[in-house]
Amino acid sequence: MDFSLSEEHLMIREAAREFTKNELLPGVIERDTHQIFPTEQVKKMAELGFLGMMVDPKYGGGGMDTVSYVLAMEEISKVDASCSVIMSVNNSLVCWGLETFGTEEQKQKYLTKLATGESIGAFCLSEPEAGSDATSQRTTAEDKGDHYVLNGTKNWITNGGSADFYLVIAQTDKEKRHRGINAFIVEKGWDGFEIGPKEDKLGIRGSDTHTLNFNDVKVPKENRIGEDGFGFTFAMKTLSGGRIGIAAQALGIASGAYELARDYSKIRKAFGTEICNHQAIAFKLADMLVSIETSRHLIMKAAWDKDQGNSYDLSGAMAKLHASQTAVDVTSEAVQIHGGNGYVKEYHVERLMRDAKITQIYEGTSEIQKIVISRALLKD
Ligand code: CAA
Repeated sequence: MDFSLSEEHLMIREAAREFTKNELLPGVIERDTHQIFPTEQVKKMAELGFLGMMVDPKYGGGGMDTVSYVLAMEEISKVDASCSVIMSVNNSLVCWGLETFGTEEQKQKYLTKLATGESIGAFCLSEPEAGSDATSQRTTAEDKGDHYVLNGTKNWITNGGSADFYLVIAQTDKEKRHRGINAFIVEKGWDGFEIGPKEDKLGIRGSDTHTLNFNDVKVPKENRIGEDGFGFTFAMKTLSGGRIGIAAQALGIASGAYELARDYSKIRKAFGTEICNHQAIAFKLADMLVSIETSRHLIMKAAWDKDQGNSYDLSGAMAKLHASQTAVDVTSEAVQIHGGNGYVKEYHVERLMRDAKITQIYEGTSEIQKIVISRALLKD
């Protein structure tokens, strides 16, 4: 068993670290405060290849493995989880979904632009009444021969306003329940496709989250992904990989907060010494680090499973469950270690604490991860 990272992995991590320090840290507080979408930063992420890391180079991607992707996600999330969710949705959900299940025409037309970051994508599954209960899709796609007609509403869509291409899940045959669901590629600007209000969120405030409305949107048949009825399986398979990316995001949020708290504890004095010399603080830091490293091992195992061609539904769900709880706990402790300073924006940990919570909600809540895990363990 070899736990060391390759030269290439180390280089990718270093590139992400440099980028984060130079391009994301300046302005991150302002973007969070005013909910400013990081347009320039996303352009630079595209130039550096962070938006299509795992896509085959023949479609414009980086051809890297999942371990590389996880390393970059962690670094970027340490500072700007808004940028990392934009990156995660584009890489794990949209690019991976299209590359794995799309036709050659779909790949040439859409993936080539998404992988280079010339365009960005959104993944539209959640609805007002179908967030966790994803089989209960109310959005419909009526088969009209050479095209479908799409009607319905999608909620909490990451990249909702800024995307160019949208993977939309819809019910084509209600009687068939999840076997009557399909996934479609929809372009921004098509007649009847309306981008609704932007959400005012607790965290990841730089990313734009919108409601989307589809009113008689005509979608050509060639924009359906996979065979008729494949949409639910498509969504589930895609989300399984997405969960590894979100776990890495949670890891980054936690490790970013931990590093800030550790460094602060070495300079802040109380009762005649640096606060790290008090066991009350040192033990907190020890607990934080153990949880972070446990998350890291689970995430690397899930990423390795994916790279090996093993099933990663279970390892990805475990990684996300643990890493997201760690992000919530560690960021809260980081604020505690900072005391009053931790409660103000300047010190970054309050933002990380707000950002952490979403990792327990999107791409399957913690409760959903427990469903996936418990079903897997009870299967045999
Ligand atoms: N891979 C392949 N197929 C899968 C699968 C997987 N990982 N998980 C389930 N399926 C298949 C099952 O085999 C079954 O198919 P058959 O009946 O043909 O055998 C079918 O899907 C239905 O499965 P279940 O009976 O298990 O379905 P369920 O209704 O009990 O739900 C669930 C399963 C795990 C709870 C699922 O609904 C789920 O994951 N829900 C959460 C959805 C989610 O993550 N939403 C987040 C929105 S996206 C987002 O957040 C993006 C963003 O913007 C950041």
